[in-house]
Amino acid sequence: MKSMELVIEGECYISGRFERACVGIDGGRIVALARNLDGDRRIDFGSRKILPAAIDSHVHFREPGMTHKEDFGTGSLAALHGGVSCVFDMPNTAPPTTTVSALDDKARAAAARSLVDFGLFAAVRPGADIAALAGRAIGFKLYMAGTTGDLLVPSLASVQKELADVARSGKVLAVHAEDETIRRKEPAKGPADHLRNRPNECEASAIRKVARAAEGCRVHICHVSAKDSLPLVQGQPNLTSEVTPHHMLLDRDRPLGTFGKVNPPLRTKGDRQAMFLAFKQGQFDTMASDHAPHTVDEKKEDFDYAPSGMPGVETMFPLMLQHVRDKHLALATVVKALCERPGEIFGIKKGRIEVGYDADLVAVDFMAGRDIRADDMHSKCGWTAYEGMPAVFPRATVVRGELMMKDEEQAGESRGRDVVAKDR
Ligand code: NCD
Ligand code: ZN
Repeated sequence: MKSMELVIEGECYISGRFERACVGIDGGRIVALARNLDGDRRIDFGSRKILPAAIDSHVHFREPGMTHKEDFGTGSLAALHGGVSCVFDMPNTAPPTTTVSALDDKARAAAARSLVDFGLFAAVRPGADIAALAGRAIGFKLYMAGTTGDLLVPSLASVQKELADVARSGKVLAVHAEDETIRRKEPAKGPADHLRNRPNECEASAIRKVARAAEGCRVHICHVSAKDSLPLVQGQPNLTSEVTPHHMLLDRDRPLGTFGKVNPPLRTKGDRQAMFLAFKQGQFDTMASDHAPHTVDEKKEDFDYAPSGMPGVETMFPLMLQHVRDKHLALATVVKALCERPGEIFGIKKGRIEVGYDADLVAVDFMAGRDIRADDMHSKCGWTAYEGMPAVFPRATVVRGELMMKDEEQAGESRGRDVVAKDR
């Protein structure tokens, strides 16, 4: 066999188990897997575990328009340190990603600054040119309740035509499922009040409504957070679901104040435990961070004025790897939800160590854990809701065959690629 550009060697996670193997890489893709391979260059990770890098299919990198919170440079640097090689950015930027020109502008900004690969969501709004957007977007986002940004649809009836167009496009319809007609807007002093304003039924009702209204669409329910929602997202044809680390690990009783204000809200301990168990049992298709950075100053506003959302792209995979290390979760469950299923659902060849897939890899040392500290994070926002929690940060992240992070330092300069319109 001809020598390949690069060979990466280590304990590789292939078809659900670890084996000592060489990953042969050409043009950023995995072209061979074997016990021994020759390459022009070689990286030997020794006894470290080599896993597929994660795909974070729900981030808010805030560019354009809110780059004091984050931009593609800082967001993607945080991603690299968290073992994420590809992110899908949400459309609630300023301007919002609702037109082809806004999508193209954002793609140019991302291509200039992002250190990881990316896909861009377009928003469903009355009058949106879905067919034109579909060629360039990783999927469509539908906001059923008010949250950061201005993309709430007036009603599902108002986007009936657009939803039919999404169905025709074959693209995923990612849904922020909270029912605006149930949401209360009473003054809130903390996460418990925020939860009262956005009760479990708010989520369950929205899931029921969108499942009916978006017939024919590949509906993906984002950030499922309430135990009442679990039966609604299981075993439904054309419906997949996402859970976040915060709804699985945090609840309204944590003393987080505004830093725990997020949509959907942190719920009760019972809901949190139900999310953890459902995740452990493989009931969610994907895990995504809903990385939604806001600055400390913004979060220091009074509860009612503070924006909703918390960062998470850097801590998601490390927190899950810690749970694997502690034997609370099976590695297979984590890899499936963070790597394999996002790749399958969104139709990109990432998330597996397999010939034909992008060479997006992380090297992990399960013995080298450390506590999460805001000071060590790379997001512009400068805080984390997971302060002091133990985590297993990857020792290296490889994006399409390029070593981009090593020993917790940025190692490469290459820019990420749009996974949809690669040559734009
Ligand atoms: C998100 C944000 O800040 O962009 N906030 C959040 O609480 N999740 C918006 C959203 O997805 O709701
Ligand atoms: Zn979001």
